[in-house]
Amino acid sequence: MTVGRRRLLKVLTAIPVLGGLVAVLSPLFRFLKPNDGPWQIFTIKPDLPKGGAQVVGKTTALAKPWDFFYFTYVQKFVQYDPTGYKAANIAGVAVRLPKKVKFENASGFVGYKGETDIALFQRICPHLGCIFNFIPDFHEITAGYGGYVPPEFEKHALMGCPCHLSIYDPAFPNDPGNVISGPAPRGARYFEFEIRGEDIVVTGAELGGIA
Ligand code: FES
Repeated sequence: MTVGRRRLLKVLTAIPVLGGLVAVLSPLFRFLKPNDGPWQIFTIKPDLPKGGAQVVGKTTALAKPWDFFYFTYVQKFVQYDPTGYKAANIAGVAVRLPKKVKFENASGFVGYKGETDIALFQRICPHLGCIFNFIPDFHEITAGYGGYVPPEFEKHALMGCPCHLSIYDPAFPNDPGNVISGPAPRGARYFEFEIRGEDIVVTGAELGGIA
């Protein structure tokens, strides 16, 4: 057997080995970066939700302070929470706040460029992933969400999780959506959005179903 033939055989036998390596590594990379597409195993740019821009509602539905509506942001690729649940859709709530705020949370994610009184929160509870509710009347929080009595400056609409009673303040000064009671280790996550005419357009979502 000539040296050339031996080398050719070595190359040919290496192909299935390489294929096997890719087959093993691909799920591993998908586990580490589950928001990537099937063949983007070597992508190193930051994770981004792949749902694209989506119109989720109209500003006209938020005419007065504390008007709100629920919506669903549909991702093209799923993200996973630590329980293995695949979250293809992210439940959201849009709310008109009583005053404009800079929409940037404690982890630095910016929901809206500049100040706005429209807030878009993800309703996936950062505690253990339940879907929390927007509660227009804080008395309902006290009656049905563990007896929490908000201080005077927070006696307005709040957001409450029915599972372990975390309470979030959508108008918390300097950090809208901050957790004010309960076991959640961080505030509600944001959607990134733009206002185009009357349309509220979600352009991205802060990743991570739970803390
Ligand atoms: S899942 Fe919401 S408080 Fe536990």
